[in-house]
Amino acid sequence: MHPAQNEECSTYGATSSTAHRNRLIIVANRAPVRLSQDKWVPAVGGLATALLPVLEKQSGLWVSMAENDEAPETQHFPEEKPAFDILRIQLSEQEKADYYSGMANQAIWPVAHYMIQHLQLKRSYFETYEAINKKFVDAVLSGYREGDYIWLQDYHLMLAPQQIRSIHPEAKIAHFWHIPWPAMEVFRILPWARELIQGLLGSDLIGFHIEEYVENFLDSVRVLLGAKIDGNIIFWQGREIRVEAHPIGVDTAYFHKVANSTTVKRDADLLRSQVGTDFLVIGIDRLDYTKGVLSRLLAFESFLQQYEEYHGRVTFYQVATPSRTDVGSYQQLKREVDEAVGRINGAYTRGIWSPVRYAYRTFSQDELCSIYRAADAALITPLRDGMNLVTQEFITATDHGVLVLSELTGAAHILPESVLVNPYDQEGVMNAIKIALELPDAEKKERLSTLKERVNRLDVHTWADGFLKSMQEG
Ligand code: G6P
Repeated sequence: MHPAQNEECSTYGATSSTAHRNRLIIVANRAPVRLSQDKWVPAVGGLATALLPVLEKQSGLWVSMAENDEAPETQHFPEEKPAFDILRIQLSEQEKADYYSGMANQAIWPVAHYMIQHLQLKRSYFETYEAINKKFVDAVLSGYREGDYIWLQDYHLMLAPQQIRSIHPEAKIAHFWHIPWPAMEVFRILPWARELIQGLLGSDLIGFHIEEYVENFLDSVRVLLGAKIDGNIIFWQGREIRVEAHPIGVDTAYFHKVANSTTVKRDADLLRSQVGTDFLVIGIDRLDYTKGVLSRLLAFESFLQQYEEYHGRVTFYQVATPSRTDVGSYQQLKREVDEAVGRINGAYTRGIWSPVRYAYRTFSQDELCSIYRAADAALITPLRDGMNLVTQEFITATDHGVLVLSELTGAAHILPESVLVNPYDQEGVMNAIKIALELPDAEKKERLSTLKERVNRLDVHTWADGFLKSMQEG
């Protein structure tokens, strides 16, 4: 039997709406599985968690880039009970440099995050991006059957919807944009802005996390393409395209379970005793210039300068996960963060107390949960972020922590009971650290319980179900 004909229920234990009937083709830059001790297992992260159970139930394909030579070009998954296929596109080093490090990470990414000082533009980036989008499309079409739903993900695949549409005008195509969509005047800085938007308009449905991005996108379509728009519908080349906000969540049941396990609780206690201070404040991010790690360290440095009474009483633990290490801006950021940590600890360390604890490596979900549980406050202060899921993981895992959150994140629109800050305002962040540490217990509890309710309502499975439902109803 072809894996695509297997109609068994999910073996991941996740629930998903029974409304989904058609086969599903997911197209994303990253594969949903990783190799762990010679066995392929689901990858860590929202997309894999949300969509693997759906694919397993409805069958279909997941098309992604091959991240290394170990990964097979075609793979039936799960190994023991194949339900769908994973197809991987092989890229040469040069293609990867232009499509991924170049166009995706040095052109679209900085523009979307309003950080154009990191922008690099080369015509070869766009040309390769177009060719690689076409390779993804060829893989999709090699397994496409009429009636399938095709769901593309993120800024790596802006041109693919229209490329598919031009071959299969009847195809059902959706796209979800996981990062911010900036103000029109910022997006148009990209020399290929119009082509990129037209590529996306090959879809029937385009999703964003929050209304602000929907509005910015509609504005870009109206001004840059002159398309007619009515509410959230775009009228373009005889078709109607719906644009909707669907905020993503985390797997709340999973994080709740892990954070309350005996080992995680024990490791959280151990971390607190090793740290040895009254307060533990944390920051957890991919090491990316959009995350505001450096400004946050500078805000903490100002806090130490200003409030001597906290010396010896507070530790700031920054976890930074290596990311996009081939890109110059990321290498530069690493040097700057290393230097800031060294400078702060050099100036303030007394006896056994060092104010900053810093780790630059990838952590397991269990390790992260014990850090969340141990913390009194989390400083999540990106300079811009599409959503930021660390906020939701932290809220699910903690039983007493305060969330200090950048108002320039999608999460701020969902979690207004956090202590909101402007991440560019260093003094504001410094003051917010003090507010978080001195928040009366009753207020802390009240804010946290509302935040937990909000995070529970979001949930990553609810997100996938809601989007797929909208796709089918369209
Ligand atoms: C953001 C993007 C994702 C991307 C992730 C990690 O969250 O929206 O598409 O996968 O960053 O970045 P990377 O470049 O390592 O895939």
